[in-house]
Amino acid sequence: MADSQQKKRMTVPVFSGMKGSGQKITMLTAYDYAMAQLVDEAGVEGILVGDSMSMVVQGHENTLPVTMDEMIYHAEMVGRAVQHALVVVDMPFPSYHLGAAKAIENAGRILKETRCQAVKLEGGAAQADTIAAMVAAGIPVMAHVGLRPQSVHQLGGYRVQRDEAALLHDARAAAEAGAFGVVLECVPSAIAKSITEKISIPTIGIGAGPDCDGQVLVLHDVLGLTCNYVPRFVKAYADLKTEITGAARSFRDEVRDGQFPAPEHGYE
Ligand code: KIV
Repeated sequence: MADSQQKKRMTVPVFSGMKGSGQKITMLTAYDYAMAQLVDEAGVEGILVGDSMSMVVQGHENTLPVTMDEMIYHAEMVGRAVQHALVVVDMPFPSYHLGAAKAIENAGRILKETRCQAVKLEGGAAQADTIAAMVAAGIPVMAHVGLRPQSVHQLGGYRVQRDEAALLHDARAAAEAGAFGVVLECVPSAIAKSITEKISIPTIGIGAGPDCDGQVLVLHDVLGLTCNYVPRFVKAYADLKTEITGAARSFRDEVRDGQFPAPEHGYE
């Protein structure tokens, strides 16, 4: 049996239980079938259908414009592709700000329509009642504290969040409300370490240093596909921007020169 067929499907309890296991949790974003298949094959524990899609796929200047229907459309593609990782789908702004009933309705749509297993929402203490209601309805929820991109206007930009007491309060509130994990975004490493030691659920860092229980990055950043500003916390493991432009340029040149299509690309 091939290696990929032997791997078991990641579940929410197993994902949560990785805290303290000595093995770091890895997550990457994906937004479509082909990329999700490749990322899943790499063996990450979690795949996030992030609302970062609004920026890296749709070309918006922030994550606010993406809609529920668009998130579901992309989550369906990812849900069809992934066989091993836990797939978490971002709830877009403001799909969980209009009361617990509306949040459950929207998260319920995600679980019913996409084959994905969990949702993520931004907030800690301010969303604790909503998280608790969703968890009571059987919906696995990941929280997201620190820099919350959906609150970019309120925060005054994409800034490092340094209020340790507020960050700990938010992470604790999310854990106590029943979240199975929490993303810590743009938090000083020492604060992220301290929060990680104090709460019972896994912390998944992005720009939060090495001591979180896991790490998440946006796939386009990891692949070197991002054309605009790339934050300091990103590490690009490939330079696909150059590869793709180079391949497209070679195609253009070969068609213009008459090198492509060659005889082997045609039919008798
Ligand atoms: O939308 C997203 O990709 C995210 C990650 C940056 C954590 O929320």
